[in-house]
Amino acid sequence: MLGNQNFKSIAVVGAGQMGSGIAQVCASQSIPVSLIDLNIDQLNKSKESICKSLEKLAAKGIIKEGEKISGLEKIKFSQDLKLSSKSDLIIEAIVEDENKKKTLWKQLDQISSPQTIFASNTSSIPIARLAQASGRPEKFIGLHFMNPVPIMNVVEIIPSLSTSIETKNQVLALCKFLKKETIESKDFPGFIINRILMPMINEAFTVLNENIASAEDIDNGMKLGTKQPMGPLALADFIGLDTCLAILTVMFESTGKTHLKPSPLLQQYVDLNWLGRKTNRGVYHY
Ligand SMILES: NC(=O)c1ccc[n+]([C@@H]2O[C@H](COP(=O)([O-])OP(=O)(O)OC[C@H]3O[C@@H](n4cnc5c(N)ncnc54)[C@H](O)[C@@H]3O)[C@@H](O)[C@H]2O)c1
Repeated sequence: MLGNQNFKSIAVVGAGQMGSGIAQVCASQSIPVSLIDLNIDQLNKSKESICKSLEKLAAKGIIKEGEKISGLEKIKFSQDLKLSSKSDLIIEAIVEDENKKKTLWKQLDQISSPQTIFASNTSSIPIARLAQASGRPEKFIGLHFMNPVPIMNVVEIIPSLSTSIETKNQVLALCKFLKKETIESKDFPGFIINRILMPMINEAFTVLNENIASAEDIDNGMKLGTKQPMGPLALADFIGLDTCLAILTVMFESTGKTHLKPSPLLQQYVDLNWLGRKTNRGVYHY
């Protein structure tokens, strides 16, 4: 057994693309998971996508048959937040909205054991703000998985000034157990990866908006010219344009750096609910 993790059960709140992936990798390592979402359709969609992903990974030999079976068996899908109350760790992966996350953490603090560790998968929101709202700042940490979680092998760990060493060590042991590498960032908006990635995505929207090139040429140029597996606009559609806009907004409002100001074209797509792959329309049609 890898690592020395202490979490006998985990709750994941938010069953979108990230919450589903996090639940899947934990369950594949035989950890019982409660996967909770407000939206029943999203829970059904999540179940379907986890089944498909496990089948695909097993067929390619990326995971063993046993990991596929426990990935399917160890997840309870529910709309009931109270199901999280017996978990040793709660990972929040709801929408990138500070107020919604704070409200949820206040609720979770009331129904959880004082020992339970809280982790947020936020892409950009300062951990200290969420930690304060959670009522247990020493047991709160940022745990930023990458998309798609079963494939991407790194997790960004963000302790805030108040996070205890024990909390950080327990979360590091979990990542090792899940066979993920870790990198550590100070608690600053956007952390490491999005601080560097999002300006590139934003600039791709600006280049598109200024009619300098087509979306296809922007993406092909960056794919073939800089060896990225996916161009920045296709990647933005994959992440979710609402999530990209939310991340840039947090970083721009917190730092005032003008290169982080969201492109008006990105804003327009989101206004039209063209959110990328999840709504079948973003920069591209799906
Ligand atoms: N998309 C990415 O590539 C990516 C990568 C790393 C981190 N993140 C972060 O992960 C989080 C989730 O992103 P996502 O892409 O999975 O979003 P998503 O839009 O796919 O899913 C969000 C889910 O949260 C649910 N939800 C909203 N409020 C809720 C509540 N109060 N209680 C329970 N469920 C609630 C929604 O019903 C939805 O199913 C965000 O903080 C995002 O910034 C996203």
